[in-house]
Amino acid sequence: MSQYYSIAIDGPAGAGKSSLAKALAARLGFLYVDTGAIYRTVGLYVARQGGDCGKLEEVLPRLPEIELSLRHGDDGQQHMLLGGEDVTEAIRENAVSRYASQVSAHQPVRDFLLDMQRELARQHNVIMDGRDIGTVVLPQADVKIFLTASVEQRALRRCRELEARGQAVDLETLKKEIAQRDYDDSHRAAAPLRQAEDAVVLDTSQLDLQQSLEALLTLVKERLPL
Ligand code: DC
Repeated sequence: MSQYYSIAIDGPAGAGKSSLAKALAARLGFLYVDTGAIYRTVGLYVARQGGDCGKLEEVLPRLPEIELSLRHGDDGQQHMLLGGEDVTEAIRENAVSRYASQVSAHQPVRDFLLDMQRELARQHNVIMDGRDIGTVVLPQADVKIFLTASVEQRALRRCRELEARGQAVDLETLKKEIAQRDYDDSHRAAAPLRQAEDAVVLDTSQLDLQQSLEALLTLVKERLPL
């Protein structure tokens, strides 16, 4: 048994996982681990090397050469490092979402990243967000939340987020991309996105960030002696 607490937050893209997990981590003093950022960094690396992220034979030989690390700043912000380069911003490009989804469908990529994720939970109280945290990475997590929202709401949120970064996107295109990514993430053979049997579902379609955070805090406090 780990002496640390772990909270697993899984769910589809744009459900508010990262904003909420980050805010919750700050409130509880836990380490926030964004596992999507790790897959994004692998996708960015392979794409930069000219590899096709959808082809295992182009991804696999590149895994041992990736110098991937994760660092938390004093503000609790997670930074992704590729070699010496901080790619925290670069991995948020819209194209990288697709590369991440593609590399994440390969089981050897998932195996390659498993230890790194588990090690963080062995050493810290963590709130980890992703797709398979409650089912595969931390099946013994103390609290499991499955966070979701309608495709419309998620597309709207992603649209605002990208606009705030100065990236113009079409809402309808985003909706299609999100629906496609949901389908791909939940129908792949390797660790498909699914709710753990013992996860609590929180649908944030009708909730703003503050209301969602309060709902999450209540769920966690009911389950952990904090
Ligand atoms: O959460 P995100 O959108 O940054 O994740 C990027 C991609 O990585 C997404 O398509 C699903 C995949 N992913 C995964 O397969 N397993 C995780 N634990 C986290 C992300």
